[in-house]
Amino acid sequence: MTDRVTLSERAGVRCESACWAGRAVFAKTLVFDDPDTRARFEHEGSVAASVRHPLVVSPLAVARDALLFPLIGGVTLRERLDGGPLGADEATLVAGGVLAAVTALHACGVTHHDLKPENVMLDGGRAAFDAVRVIDFGMSHSVKLPLDIHSGTRMGTPHFMAPEQFLGVRGDPRSDLYSLGVLLFDCLAGEPPFEDAFGWLAGLSDLRAPLPGPEALHGLLTRCLTRDRTQRPASATALYTDLSDARGALGLPALPDLEDWAGECR
Ligand SMILES: Nc1ncnc2c1ncn2[C@@H]1O[C@H](COP(=O)(O)OP(=O)(O)OP(=O)(O)O)[C@@H](O)[C@H]1O
Ligand SMILES: [Mg+2]
Repeated sequence: MTDRVTLSERAGVRCESACWAGRAVFAKTLVFDDPDTRARFEHEGSVAASVRHPLVVSPLAVARDALLFPLIGGVTLRERLDGGPLGADEATLVAGGVLAAVTALHACGVTHHDLKPENVMLDGGRAAFDAVRVIDFGMSHSVKLPLDIHSGTRMGTPHFMAPEQFLGVRGDPRSDLYSLGVLLFDCLAGEPPFEDAFGWLAGLSDLRAPLPGPEALHGLLTRCLTRDRTQRPASATALYTDLSDARGALGLPALPDLEDWAGECR
């Protein structure tokens, strides 16, 4: 690797941009080799490598101490939202892109468990369906990996974490649909729904900010954000259809056909 530039270093992992095999890469390197950190690092690499999808950032190469990803030239969705909320068209296109990626993950037995604007990149800075890149499998669960190294050890971000995830339930795809609802809410409002996120997660507060955006989106937002996961949309594909239908009700073009955006499990 050449032209290495350190971007961050946290929890025993260094993130760098670099050049590798003639292309720009985002490298994650293990710099603190204790068994827990290594187990988490290897788990992240295995999960990220287990799904191929155009809107999911999978590693180009996995080594003992390094994961090399294609370097996405753009911004995170968080950086984009720092400039102000998105309109209904862009918000539903971005949420649709994330959902297409999530559909592919779920089809491969992977629950992301950390969907939030910091973990969604927009290639070229565009708030568009095909610009979405889902990153960061550091919290993910895979039915194919016997060891769930996260159970009881690490927490996601309270604002985007499903209530059952807060209580330690792992691997329920509906937890990602909750996070997707928070993400869409955040895109439309510029901030997540529950100001007192821990109070909400713990069942001590039900105070939610008013639903943002057009009314056509309120039904699906309400269903995603419910505490009772049996009341959420049944699957990522079901939510995708709801989102596409809501766009129709708003006079916006339907989302792309999911069959044209299928992934591949490795
Ligand atoms: N492939 C990539 N190309 C460009 N930038 C990336 C890429 N992957 C991640 N990043 C940037 O690096 C940040 C951290 O990456 P990631 O989310 O994978 O790690 P993390 O474990 O969450 O670290 P942290 O907790 O410091 O955010 C992202 O929020 C994003 O800004
Ligand atoms: Mg992250």
